Amino acid sequence: MACLKILAVLALIAFAKAQQNPIENILGNLTSLRNEEYISAHRRLYAFNIWLYGLEINAFKDSFLARVDAVEFQKDALLGEIIMANEKWEPLSAKSNVTKDCVEQNSDTMPTKQWAEKKFDKCISHAKSRINRLIMPLQVTNFTLAHHYSHVFEKDVTRCENKFNETMLKNQTVCLNKAVADANAYTAKNQNTFSKQMESAKNSSTIDIQNLHECIFDVHNATLTKISETNHNIESCIRGAVDCSKCSGHFCVDVYPMASSSIDFESTTMNNPFYGRNDTSGCLILNIF
Ligand SMILES: *[C@@H]1O[C@H](CO)[C@@H](O)[C@H](O)[C@H]1NC(C)=O
Ligand SMILES: *[C@@H]1O[C@H](CO)[C@@H](O)[C@H](O)[C@H]1NC(C)=O
Ligand SMILES: *[C@@H]1O[C@H](CO)[C@@H](O)[C@H](O)[C@H]1NC(C)=O
Ligand SMILES: *[C@@H]1O[C@H](CO)[C@@H](O)[C@H](O)[C@H]1NC(C)=O
Ligand SMILES: *[C@@H]1O[C@H](CO)[C@@H](O)[C@H](O)[C@H]1NC(C)=O
Ligand SMILES: *[C@@H]1O[C@H](CO)[C@@H](O)[C@H](O)[C@H]1NC(C)=O
Ligand SMILES: *[C@@H]1O[C@H](CO)[C@@H](O)[C@H](O)[C@H]1NC(C)=O
Ligand SMILES: *[C@@H]1O[C@H](CO)[C@@H](O)[C@H](O)[C@H]1NC(C)=O
Repeated sequence: MACLKILAVLALIAFAKAQQNPIENILGNLTSLRNEEYISAHRRLYAFNIWLYGLEINAFKDSFLARVDAVEFQKDALLGEIIMANEKWEPLSAKSNVTKDCVEQNSDTMPTKQWAEKKFDKCISHAKSRINRLIMPLQVTNFTLAHHYSHVFEKDVTRCENKFNETMLKNQTVCLNKAVADANAYTAKNQNTFSKQMESAKNSSTIDIQNLHECIFDVHNATLTKISETNHNIESCIRGAVDCSKCSGHFCVDVYPMASSSIDFESTTMNNPFYGRNDTSGCLILNIF
């Protein structure tokens, strides 16, 4: 507005200097300037609306990705568990060949760092891949508004300027007012859509983050379950070897506990240690107690 006043003063100075100019001329020029200023003020406002959309979309995106990255610290804890589980058997393996063999026999099921890290990273990359789908409706709405400004609004303005030239500036003002009012109504409707979409994107992102936490929990659980099962198998293997020390160097992962009271020397159909199994796994040790 300060700019406009300065221009007005300049115009009046010009009027004072050149009295031969009819006053309508200068007033007409002022209206023309006012119309231009009016439209360019709205252009700035509309550019600001698009800029604000960009700011909101990017803030949402950054905050979502930051929430995904925040789970990264759990990876160290997970890999730490695996390192500990593997290191646990090292001193014992050095001391005992039986332990060493039992550990080696079960090395396939002991989770490795690479295995866990791959599963963990898959959870993260899946969560990150969701961001594009979350912001897509917002981007479409942003694009629709920007397109409305550059095509519909600008065309309306050009039409007003062409239809009502310098000789009909008052009519041009009325026409431009209508173009601005239309663009403002469209903007309000679009902003309403945008804020609904933002709310919905935030709701969906909460579910995506929950899924991410579940995915990581499953990796933790699978890792700890595998460690625990492997340790149990190694221990059974060692126990089998120790319990069967008379078997001179033979030992077996598979130990079947059998109460001595259940043994009947007369029976031909005694307790069947293979009942419920579907393979023999090469060997079976009876642990009679
Ligand atoms: C004002 O309008 C007259 C005629 O309409 C034109 O000759 C003159 O260049 C205009 N002045 C400015 C500053 O636009
Ligand atoms: C919004 O639309 C404008 C115009 O098409 C574009 O330049 C801008 O990058 C878009 N913003 C986002 C966050 O997509
Ligand atoms: C393990 O076996 C090797 C040979 O097979 C033997 O030299 C070594 O002394 C054994 N170690 C232990 C701790 O029994
Ligand atoms: C303004 O428009 C009228 C009719 O639409 C036309 O007669 C006149 O020549 C135009 N003047 C200028 C300066 O374009
Ligand atoms: C210009 O506006 C006047 C009233 O302000 C109206 O009577 C006239 O019809 C308008 N001219 C055009 C071409 O719309
Ligand atoms: C977002 O979630 C809140 C509460 O969970 C619910 O009240 C609201 O209706 C949801 N909004 C959308 C757009 O899904
Ligand atoms: C953990 O994993 C094991 C084996 O995959 C599964 O049986 C168990 O139900 C899981 N526990 C939870 C709480 O998901
Ligand atoms: C044997 O049983 C295990 C579960 O105890 C199952 O995973 C496996 O598929 C079975 N194998 C055959 C050949 O039926």
